Amino acid sequence: MKIGLLGFGVVGRGVYEITCARDDMQVTKVLCLEDISLPDAEAVKDFKEILNDDSIDTVVEAMGGLHPAYEFVRAAIEAGKNVVTSNKALVCTFYDELLPLAQSKGVKFRSTAAVGGGIGWLSELERSRRVQTISQVGGIMNGTCNYILDNMTRMGLNYDDVLKQAQKLGYAEANPSTDVDGIDTWHKVILSSNIAFGVTVDKSTVPVAGIRNIQAQDVENFKAHGLVCKLISTGKRTENGCSVYVQPTLVKEGEPEAAVPMNYNLITFIGDTSERMSFYGQGAGRYPTAYNVVQDLVDVLEGKGFYAPYGEKVAADNSEKLTWYVRGNWQGETAESWGNAVIVKDVSVTDMHAWLKENSEAFVAAIRA
Ligand SMILES: NC(=O)c1ccc[n+]([C@@H]2O[C@H](COP(=O)([O-])OP(=O)(O)OC[C@H]3O[C@@H](n4cnc5c(N)ncnc54)[C@H](OP(=O)(O)O)[C@@H]3O)[C@@H](O)[C@H]2O)c1
Repeated sequence: MKIGLLGFGVVGRGVYEITCARDDMQVTKVLCLEDISLPDAEAVKDFKEILNDDSIDTVVEAMGGLHPAYEFVRAAIEAGKNVVTSNKALVCTFYDELLPLAQSKGVKFRSTAAVGGGIGWLSELERSRRVQTISQVGGIMNGTCNYILDNMTRMGLNYDDVLKQAQKLGYAEANPSTDVDGIDTWHKVILSSNIAFGVTVDKSTVPVAGIRNIQAQDVENFKAHGLVCKLISTGKRTENGCSVYVQPTLVKEGEPEAAVPMNYNLITFIGDTSERMSFYGQGAGRYPTAYNVVQDLVDVLEGKGFYAPYGEKVAADNSEKLTWYVRGNWQGETAESWGNAVIVKDVSVTDMHAWLKENSEAFVAAIRA
């Protein structure tokens, strides 16, 4: 296998290093905007040098972002090259274009590292759906949020202080919005739901609430009631389709999610035969993530393409009614007060997220039954 590698950052460099030690695959060209020189590959600055190189059969995309990653990946598929990517935003956003295109061109397309970094989550979902119906996917899919929530819970610190600490340690970006506003988790649960349920979830129907507004006093309220706050994604098969959403969620102390420390992930599927199966580990990092990219390359060598057939577009139905912790200007009925917050019962996920949009200073968390 001859590989054209796009991007030489955290993931790209790891992929290069791991493949250098193998004799079944070789990175022959690396697209990198900086001047670098590599012992075993040619560094190029123009993607066309990879696209028009007929000896390259597989492109690894590790640049991130939507553009020009999308244009490059699309062109590579159209040119008959296999694609492996770690880019969840790309796969999630262009799922209904890239998947059918790869299938019609007869090339392999894989993206295991896009969800859970080094955790073999998507590849195990693929194996799982061969022998059972999966009814639910989701869990803790973002290490940055878990780091912040875990430190707030264990140390009683404020959100801003923990965020600064996370940025210093490299666990959070200078602009943390993609993580703390739940967008990263949103991409991951949509992609996981697409694969688990064999559909293309209409992204505009999947609501997301992040952790930006959580305060130390909220965490005190949760502790007083034996609860721990986590950013949890949910994808559920329903009678007519599926329900998919991302939101802060209060779980009981002693539940597996409550114990997930630092920047770790815990992702779970529930199947009718296996029942609950959870995957725990480092959801990011150079070598764990590159490991899963190389696993995909081996799968491509063995002729394995995408995890599930492309499925039709469906709207998520989030009419499920839940109990909520709400700190903000809630005018509706309440069941009880917890300090300066209230507990609200029987409000649907759709309605609560709509309220939150109008009350952007509020903090809301679902209370898991
Ligand atoms: N890091 C992780 O642990 C992890 C885990 C799972 C998934 N991922 C995903 O993997 C992808 C890559 O992440 P990363 O952490 O490796 O990012 P990164 O360290 O920022 O690396 C991306 C590299 O691509 C380069 N690049 C961007 N646009 C380019 C272009 N047009 N032409 C050539 N090179 C270009 C960047 O160069 P400049 O720096 O010069 O812009 C940078 O060197 C992302 O989609 C991310 O979500 C990362």
